[in-house]
Amino acid sequence: TINESPDDATSSTVTNSAPSKNLINREVARRRTFGIISHPDAGKTTLTEKLLMFSGAIQLAGTVKARKSGRHATSDWMEIEKQRGISVASSVMQFEYRNHVVNLLDTPGHQDFSEDTYRVLTAVDSALMVIDAAKGVEEQTIKLLNVCRMRNTPIITFVNKMDRETRDPLELLDELESVLKIQCAPVTWPIGMGKNFRGVYHILNDEILLFTPGSERADQEFEVIKGIDNPRLQEMFPLEMDQLKMEVELVHGASHPFSLEDFLAGVQTPVFFGSAINNFGVREILNALLDWAPPPRERDATVRSVEPNEQPFSGFVFKIQANMDPAHRDRIAFLRVCSGRFERGMKLKHLRLNRDIKVSSVVTFMASSREQVEEAYAGDIIGLPNHGNMQIGDSFSEGEMLQFTGIPYFAPDFFRTARILNPLKIKQLQKGLQQLGEEGAVQVFKPVVSSDLVLGAVGVLQFEVVASRLKNEYGVDAVFEGTSISSARWITCDDKKMLADFERSSAGANIAFDAAGNMAYLATSGVNLKLTQERWPGVTFHATREHA
Ligand code: G4P
Repeated sequence: TINESPDDATSSTVTNSAPSKNLINREVARRRTFGIISHPDAGKTTLTEKLLMFSGAIQLAGTVKARKSGRHATSDWMEIEKQRGISVASSVMQFEYRNHVVNLLDTPGHQDFSEDTYRVLTAVDSALMVIDAAKGVEEQTIKLLNVCRMRNTPIITFVNKMDRETRDPLELLDELESVLKIQCAPVTWPIGMGKNFRGVYHILNDEILLFTPGSERADQEFEVIKGIDNPRLQEMFPLEMDQLKMEVELVHGASHPFSLEDFLAGVQTPVFFGSAINNFGVREILNALLDWAPPPRERDATVRSVEPNEQPFSGFVFKIQANMDPAHRDRIAFLRVCSGRFERGMKLKHLRLNRDIKVSSVVTFMASSREQVEEAYAGDIIGLPNHGNMQIGDSFSEGEMLQFTGIPYFAPDFFRTARILNPLKIKQLQKGLQQLGEEGAVQVFKPVVSSDLVLGAVGVLQFEVVASRLKNEYGVDAVFEGTSISSARWITCDDKKMLADFERSSAGANIAFDAAGNMAYLATSGVNLKLTQERWPGVTFHATREHA
């Protein structure tokens, strides 16, 4: 394995003195922070549950599943709220396995909330891609994989639902390679499928894992038979073994052998076959995560790159979530620790505001509860109470002016103007939209020529969530109306005079500022955008922006 062997390290004790270098090294080496990427219905929830059961974090199958309801697209806002509550409850799940600390970050499945997912993926060190063996590569998988690719995130692939009629595994590999443009290195290979699914052959270990359906228990051991030429196998599966040997030959010839280096560079993915619902093949991917996936690595913080084992604490906010606890109207900023050690009661520097803050009641997220954080290291996610002064992308340190990069915003595809029924509530509306904008629930633009705020979203369900939250959290009844805007682009221009000319020109009437104060151009049509771009070649129109 690539890491110092943390398997035999003993758990650290909390002290209030400066953490020793050794302690930090050891804690970083045993951390794995990852997210699951998949198209809805491929089995992410089921797999999450099985992973948690392995670690003993939950005992009962159905715990995660029960929280997931209203899974499919629904336009009933009550359902959205419920769904939001659920994805919130399981936003981050920390558990221990083989003396490693695993942080599993949940990614919203519905594509209308994909912006949120993209941001979560900036906080992980690796990803687990789940593919439905009957369906192969699906639309949402492609998008999410492309986001991972922006940071060369290492990917482990799990081909799920082998207990069903599936597509030919060789064909699936081919599709993964050609559609996702990633090399596949099969680590396990399926023997049969559907009713005739017998198990998998572990190519690297030369052993066969026998499948028995319906194993809900995590401690269930599947029988292992050593060696593909073992005569017992021939006896047990006279029909399947010839086929398996032929396929393994083919796989050897046609695919790439596993290379840790290529995996870590994000160019190759090890592929495992199994059935999440039967708990089959799940232990193998968990082990792969521990043995192969990287611990926290260095991160770009604009002025320099930050190593995870540096002593001073640093981190950035990648997600803000309101009302995690319906009893308190709190907002939580999710911070990914990038270096050092976070300790309870610690003073942090909020770098955008250039101000020290003392954060109390910082929480960590266990599979089924929130707990006070005593300490946290690179790779961990901590929840800071947010009273409105934290935004997505904000960096924190013990004093050094760092700015972690890579949190993307995407130009919205859908636009609405917000109008209120009771004009006396204008202040609440503005406050609500400002906060929801900072949270990333929706993008809010303030046009220079009008007082109506323009809302932009990547998926239309976002508007419904915003409407219901405005009502419940800010007491504002707002109606959203269609606008003539068809697209938005962020504007930059190195030439100050040219930018001023642009603002004064007829195009200036289409300028607006987003919640973070960035200038944007709101185009009324594709033609309008194109013509404006042609007229102003010195001005750059960006479809994405990074938090800065
Ligand atoms: P998601 O979070 O990616 O959307 O998927 P989820 O785990 O909810 O799984 C989607 C459906 O696929 C569920 O069935 C689930 O039981 C099923 N599933 C997951 N893994 C496997 C597997 O290994 N084999 C088979 N045969 N099915 C699997 P559902 O009918 O939609 O829901 P439910 O009635 O089972 O709750």
